[in-house]
Amino acid sequence: MNQISSIRTFTTIGSTNDYAAEWAAQGAPHLSLVIADEQTAGRGRGDRRWFTPPGAALAFSLILKPHTAQTITRYAGLGALAVCHSLQDLGLPARIKWPNDVLINRRKTCGILAEASWLGDHIQSIILGIGVNVTPQSVPPPDWPGHHEHPFPPTCVQTELGRPLDRHDLLQTILNHLCAWLPRLEHPDFLRAWEENLALRGEWVHIYAGDASPLKAQIINLNPDGSLNVRLPSGRIQRLHDGEIHLRPVDSSTK
Ligand code: BTN
Repeated sequence: MNQISSIRTFTTIGSTNDYAAEWAAQGAPHLSLVIADEQTAGRGRGDRRWFTPPGAALAFSLILKPHTAQTITRYAGLGALAVCHSLQDLGLPARIKWPNDVLINRRKTCGILAEASWLGDHIQSIILGIGVNVTPQSVPPPDWPGHHEHPFPPTCVQTELGRPLDRHDLLQTILNHLCAWLPRLEHPDFLRAWEENLALRGEWVHIYAGDASPLKAQIINLNPDGSLNVRLPSGRIQRLHDGEIHLRPVDSSTK
């Protein structure tokens, strides 16, 4: 069971996050949901595009109205954890690649785009956008204009599961997990669950931030604000905040 208050469903839309942001500004209640069968201008992090062909994926945005700005750094983790647990319920070895991807067998299956809107110092809403590749048609083909090389190449739930699956059942499960975790967002259990499901823990990765040369570091754990602790080759611990950060595995021979 979940507590979704209002739902708007579209056959085709530009981006569910854009629509949800407008709806939130017009007064949509907490836990309003925008779902689309197809997105023509789906957005990923940075200025990346997100592929959502008709009838193949889950693309939805949940409008959340937090009472406090203190927990906003946990919302991308909330979406990722809900998807991760839903895939694990199906028996899949899903893990969260910090900050906002869900992987199955080290392949990207889901992306999360959490966007906040502010009025001065006051948080107005969080738009939690979630895209899950469900059928093989939802995996972007190499000739898609938004295609980019990804160190964790895309896959879809059906391919990893080896059988068809009802997208709407998966949506219900994700919403149930989301609504179950939401009241516990500030609780240490949430941080523990997020951390336990992190991909690449203990592994050495290359960290790309903007145009700076990559930093080699080992993934350690999460801080209460959702930032990631990594260990540099010198032994020093560095804290990474969400932003334009990308992690890539380091070839073991170059550690
Ligand atoms: C990423 O991996 O960079 C994040 C992808 C987020 C995609 C979802 S699909 C539903 C919602 N609407 C959008 O335009 N983007 C998010």
